[in-house]
Amino acid sequence: MNSSIRKFIFHDLQAIEGYIDPPDALVFLAVLRAQQSASLQGGLAEIGVYYGRSYFLMRKICGEAEKIVAIDPFDILKPEHGATQYDRFVAGGRQLGLSVDAERVVKSDSTLLRPEDIIERAGKVRLFSIDGGHMLHHVAADSRLAAGSLAEHGIIVFDDTFNPAWPEVTVGVTDFLREEAGRFSVFCLTKYKTYVCRNAFHAFYSHSIMTSQELKAFDHIETDFLGSTAIRLHNPMRRRIAHEVMVGLGMRALSERAYR
Ligand SMILES: C[S@@+](CC[C@H](N)C(=O)[O-])C[C@H]1O[C@@H](n2cnc3c(N)ncnc32)[C@H](O)[C@@H]1O
Repeated sequence: MNSSIRKFIFHDLQAIEGYIDPPDALVFLAVLRAQQSASLQGGLAEIGVYYGRSYFLMRKICGEAEKIVAIDPFDILKPEHGATQYDRFVAGGRQLGLSVDAERVVKSDSTLLRPEDIIERAGKVRLFSIDGGHMLHHVAADSRLAAGSLAEHGIIVFDDTFNPAWPEVTVGVTDFLREEAGRFSVFCLTKYKTYVCRNAFHAFYSHSIMTSQELKAFDHIETDFLGSTAIRLHNPMRRRIAHEVMVGLGMRALSERAYR
């Protein structure tokens, strides 16, 4: 089953313009599968859908019945696309054979929402991806929204952490972690994302990352971060180059082999 999802990640999903690359897509796969195996239930939510690359990844892994709340103002206008952001999102799903659950699409600035707005659409959330506004006030509001609607066993994924292009994201995430010290901690770090859970589930998620077959290709480096030990998944240069060469030669489907 996971082999077809890996093909989807490395090949089909790349047709959707967007910002989740294969390494983080594999972390989503590992974490969502670990939750399923342990019967840890709940909805999913994403702030910052864009054209749905992460949304369709979650839809593919979790199936059509899963409740996914998709939050975005959907007000990006690119004349060259000849379609609205929302229509392009839906069309991308159609191309992948996946649907958009329109009842759970919230066309809004996320900072105006309350946890109840999420919970009434999807119940408490087991994976909340934050990739919307990238200024401090956005991250402050979005992390409160996520924490307030999260299941006990849920995780929050912050995008663009430690990216010098968006320094306030890093400030917002570290503010959140320091305010929530003793309650939330980081269990995984990648080049682009920071993965956070409640302390009671830190050992569970660390073990999931350490033992996942999907993540075997990465170096696993224990990294102390604000009072907890996170596993930093390092993607060696040789693997990145091998992957890029295969993609450059039009061998997208085969490029998955670089990450086995
Ligand atoms: C970097 S893109 C997200 C990429 C996406 N997660 C993916 O997988 O491709 C950022 C998105 O955040 C949305 N956004 C910006 N400010 C927002 C806000 N205040 N509330 C919700 N979404 C916001 C933008 O409309 C845009 O679609």
